[in-house]
Parts: sequence; structure tokens; C-alpha cells
Amino acid sequence: MAHHDDIDEVSGVSTTGHEWDGIRELNNPLPKWWLYVFYASIVWSVGYYFVYPSWPMVTDYTRGFLGYSQREAALADHAAGIETRMAAGAGLSDASIAEIQATPELLTFAMANGKAAFGDNCAPCHGSGATGSKGYPNLQDDDWLWGGSLEAIEQTIAVGIRSTSDDTRLSDMPAFGRDELLDKDQIRLVANYVRSLSGLETAADLDLAAGGQVYAENCAACHGETGEGNPELGAPRLSDAIWLYGSDQATIVETVTNSRMGVMPTWTGKLDPITIKSLAVYVHNLGGGQ
Ligand code: HEC
Ligand code: HEC
Repeated sequence: MAHHDDIDEVSGVSTTGHEWDGIRELNNPLPKWWLYVFYASIVWSVGYYFVYPSWPMVTDYTRGFLGYSQREAALADHAAGIETRMAAGAGLSDASIAEIQATPELLTFAMANGKAAFGDNCAPCHGSGATGSKGYPNLQDDDWLWGGSLEAIEQTIAVGIRSTSDDTRLSDMPAFGRDELLDKDQIRLVANYVRSLSGLETAADLDLAAGGQVYAENCAACHGETGEGNPELGAPRLSDAIWLYGSDQATIVETVTNSRMGVMPTWTGKLDPITIKSLAVYVHNLGGGQ
């Protein structure tokens, strides 16, 4: 039977008297450092108790000398956040897009705003990186159907292209084949000629000069004498390596036969003016702004 002033033979320390299956508990004093930390934390807790809210009461709680409240602190943070956003938002609504572009704080805010709105509204068609895909233009390059200035981009977003807006950007390339404006041979010839405008290989069995003739009579009015395009009409440049639908002979034949008439929705009414401005600034700054 263990006894509390029993001395353990191995360590020479007295035991507490507790014994389990022959293992006896030594009565070692607590380490000094541990005790001091323990006392210090008692002192700290008393101080904390008076300074900060601590003790629950029936309908309330003790507030502490500082009167601090996490709830109020969070509400204040939130209010400050809203105020900054409102200030920046007011800044955006008053400023022209050129001013936004020229003012670093407004630009930062507009870019963040535009990026978020782009992900929500534009990425499904233009891709999350705005690099586009067949029929959906890449918005990162400096090749623009309807112009790449801030104002032109804002206008495109606001009214859309072949959209339901009364002010929509509109230009209809005729469906030369379907509407029998050109026959199949003429379309093959002109498609071959279009390839030559950007230095692509042409077919030996198709008369290039004859294709050029068809082009001058039917296409140059919109796409330009040398295929340089026309942003007034949304007519793509045909003399570069960037293609909305594709540059192979069969794709061009299809484009000329049936026309494409890509549709970009109007965002007026769906997005507020500040968001539209932010999007214009964002798209312009993707790299291809003019
Ligand atoms: C339903 C698909 C669709 C959605 C959604 C869409 N677009 Fe477009 N967008 C198009 C198409 C198609 C074109 C090209 C139309 C054409 O052939 O002229 C276009 C063209 C554009 C152009 C003109 C590019 C140029 O080269 O001139 C801009 C700028 C643009 N979109 C921005 C946006 C922004 C910003 C959003 C989001 C608010 C958006 N688009 C959402 C389909 C879409
Ligand atoms: C009324 C103006 C107009 C005329 C005339 C016109 N086009 Fe177009 N063309 C456009 C527009 C606008 C587009 C933009 C595509 C769309 O509809 O989405 C386009 C697109 C194209 C494309 C697609 C380019 C790409 O990047 O994929 C080709 C190719 C093309 N046209 C060739 C021709 C040829 C060849 C003719 C003459 C036979 C012609 N176009 C006549 C306005 C015109």
C-alpha cells in the first residue's frame, strides 16, 4: 500500500501516494518558468477582464474600460469600405473614360470593376482571357472591327453589334451566294483573291486577276481596295493574319456565300453606365487599345 511520504528508491523523490499497477506518481515541483507564465496569465486575464467586454449579465454584458465592440468594429470597417467604393464609383460616373484612363486611382478601380464584370458577362463568348474564338473576336490584339479607341469600345459595348438596340452598330455583308449576287465560280475566284491579300498561297487553277475584278466590284466598298478594312462599317481587314472565321479557301467561300452576321448583344439596360465604362477601360487596357 503506497503512502504519500513514501520516497521513490530510484529517483529519491517523494511520491504523491497515487499508484497504478505498481507505477507510482512522483511528487516533482512544477517547473519555475511554467509557474511564472501561469501567474502572469492570471494577472493578464484580470487586466483583460476590466479593459475589454467580458462578463455576461442578464440582458447585457460588461463593456470594459475601452468600450470596444467587435460588432461595431466590423460595421465600421464595412461602412468605410462602402464609402471608398462609393467615392470611387462617384469618381467613375463623373469622369469621362479619357479622364479615368489618365487618373491612376480611377484606373485601378475601373480595371478591377471591369475585370469582374468581364468574367460575369463577356467571358462566355470572348473567353475568360478575352482571346476569343471562331466568330468571337480576340479583344487582346490591336485588330479592331469597330475601332479600338476608348470611345469606340465603349460605344460597341453600349449598343452592341446587330443587336436589339435601336442604336446598334450595324453593317450587313450580303450573302453573295445565297442571294445569288455571285455564282459559285465567282465566289471561288474572289475567295482565292482574298487569300492573296494577306500573302497566303493561291490556287494555280483560279484566275487571280478575275478574282480581283470580282473583289473590286463587290467587296472593296467595305473591305477597302487593298483589304485594309473599315472600322466605320465593322468590315474586317483582310490583309492581315488575323481571321474572325478562318482563312482557308473553304471557310472564305462559306463566309462569302452565306455571310456571317455575328451578333454582339447591347449591354445598355443590363449593365449600369459605370460598369460599361469600366469594361471599356478594361478591354482597352488588355493590350490592343488605340
Ligand atoms: C453572345 C456572345 C457575346 C457576348 C456575351 C459578348 N460579346 Fe462582344 N462580341 C460578340 C461578337 C460575335 C462580336 C463580333 C461581332 C461582329 O462580327 O462584328 C463581338 C464584338 C465585340 C467587340 C468589338 C471588337 C472589335 O474588334 O471591334 C467588343 C469591344 C466586345 N465585343 C466587347 C464585349 C464585352 C465587353 C462584353 C461583355 C459585356 C461582350 N463583348 C459580350 C459576341 C459577344
Ligand atoms: C456591306 C459591307 C460588306 C461587303 C460589301 C462585303 N463585306 Fe465582307 N464583311 C463585312 C463585315 C461587316 C464582316 C464582319 C463579319 C460578320 O458578319 O460577323 C465581313 C466579313 C468578311 C470576311 C470574314 C473575315 C474573317 O476575319 O474571318 C471575309 C472573308 C469577307 N468579309 C469577304 C468579303 C468578300 C470577298 C466580299 C465581296 C464578295 C465582301 N466581304 C463584301 C462587310 C462587308
